[in-house]
Amino acid sequence: MATISSAMISFYALLLLLFVGAAKATASPSWESTIRMPTDSEVDFKVNDGDEEGTIWAVLVAGSSGYGNYRHQADVCHAYQLLKKGGVKEENVVVFMYDDIASNPLNPRPGVLINHPQGTDVYVGVPKDYTGENVNTKNFYAVLLGDKSSVKGGSGKVVDSKPNDRIFIYYSDHGGPGVLGMPNLPYLYGDEFIEVLKKKHASNSYKSMVIYVEACESGSVFEGMMPENLNVYVTTASNAEESSWGTYCPGMDPPPPPEYVTCLGDLYSIAWLEDRPACGLSRTYSCAVCYHLCSETHNLKKETLKQQYKTVKFRTSNGKTYNAGSHVMEYGNKSIKAETLDLYQGFDPANADAESNKLRPIKHVEAVNQRDADLLFMWHRYKQLEEGSSEKAEALKQIAETTMHRNHLDASIQLIGNLLFGQQRGAKIISAVRKPGLPLVDDWECLKTMVRAFESRCGSLTQYGMKHMRAFANICNNGISKEAMKEACMAACGAYNSQIWSPGRGYYSA
Ligand SMILES: *[C@@H]1O[C@H](CO)[C@@H](O)[C@H](O)[C@H]1NC(C)=O
Repeated sequence: MATISSAMISFYALLLLLFVGAAKATASPSWESTIRMPTDSEVDFKVNDGDEEGTIWAVLVAGSSGYGNYRHQADVCHAYQLLKKGGVKEENVVVFMYDDIASNPLNPRPGVLINHPQGTDVYVGVPKDYTGENVNTKNFYAVLLGDKSSVKGGSGKVVDSKPNDRIFIYYSDHGGPGVLGMPNLPYLYGDEFIEVLKKKHASNSYKSMVIYVEACESGSVFEGMMPENLNVYVTTASNAEESSWGTYCPGMDPPPPPEYVTCLGDLYSIAWLEDRPACGLSRTYSCAVCYHLCSETHNLKKETLKQQYKTVKFRTSNGKTYNAGSHVMEYGNKSIKAETLDLYQGFDPANADAESNKLRPIKHVEAVNQRDADLLFMWHRYKQLEEGSSEKAEALKQIAETTMHRNHLDASIQLIGNLLFGQQRGAKIISAVRKPGLPLVDDWECLKTMVRAFESRCGSLTQYGMKHMRAFANICNNGISKEAMKEACMAACGAYNSQIWSPGRGYYSA
């Protein structure tokens, strides 16, 4: 590893300050006073017929690991608490989380996870169904399909649902065009996930399903792919071509408690997790709406999925500024959203998420692009460490290595594009975004082959590199052969082919 000059260090420090500054600069709360209250007719009510039997099943997935990704596991634990308070039974909720946060040496409150700056512990009592190496796509698919014999490791709990049951899936992680992350490879690819949903539907083992996904480019997993006839309704944090956002981050407004060097939540996730229409508590829009919802007792449990979609879309857009915010999207059968939330998330007014709701400000929150959140974490950790300590030097080295690795990935993708399509057209072709309604790629097997070709020569994509999935998709969409791709990868990355990179170790030989 090359030694790091102090000029380089200042450069990266400046870079970090710049992007933190950029997020701050957009944080004008000026629109706050202009929030328009939804009128009665805009607030969706649906009277529950009372003939709903069936059971609620839920699968909660935090697809990342590492303290810099604290927020994904905190989101998922919070979701569990919400379902539990809503009366969903533990035996019906399957939790996937790496479980390396609560007892992480960097966690200032050992054994505790929070998902809001003033939040209480969301980790307590969360079932550890699939942790560590058992958090993987194979197990996720087997769990969803209720296929106990295919599950490896973990509690063995699966979604053993019946035709009249409803299923709720929530996924929080990094992603990229066409993929969602997993702490253990392979990634979850859009085509495979939708095949699993089709299989589940064909088994006639649920009434309807709702899927919430927080990840960068999460729309691309479903765009042009998600059928309307599976009784599945999906919302995603972002459209097919934009980042999703971490929030409650150090140095931002609102900040986590000062001892935290990592973000506590994600923008879309906290928007639905904090959207609890409980009596006497403020909601995302305003307390006036809340008062309205609670003014007649028979209106409890009457918020629809559609209303939550609207509320979450508004909040995730950061007040329609889309500055440090994203476009919440919906896919699948949209008729389902007329149903009430309690059918998927449960509801218990007495125990609704009262404490954190009292704290809910109606204001712009600052946020960081998912992919910069780990640099932000490293930077704040660096600042926290004792001057002159070997740990501090190590932390700085890690920032520099991470940045170098990102540059390596960005540059090699760019070079491969230029080699395949020529200097003039390369950049344009690999970054081209298809029209809404079209899938990311026509041949998903080709996409996977191109990723393998890249990784075998240029090293692992890592969670940052998932952003380049669109380049591989476009290489496929333009009919490049596997052989041509292999040659280009070899030309671009010859020097890297025997090295492996990991965030803790930097480059090392296999
Ligand atoms: C969508 O869902 C509604 C309500 O559950 C159902 O009546 C309708 O048949 C579904 N549409 C399709 C295309 O499956």
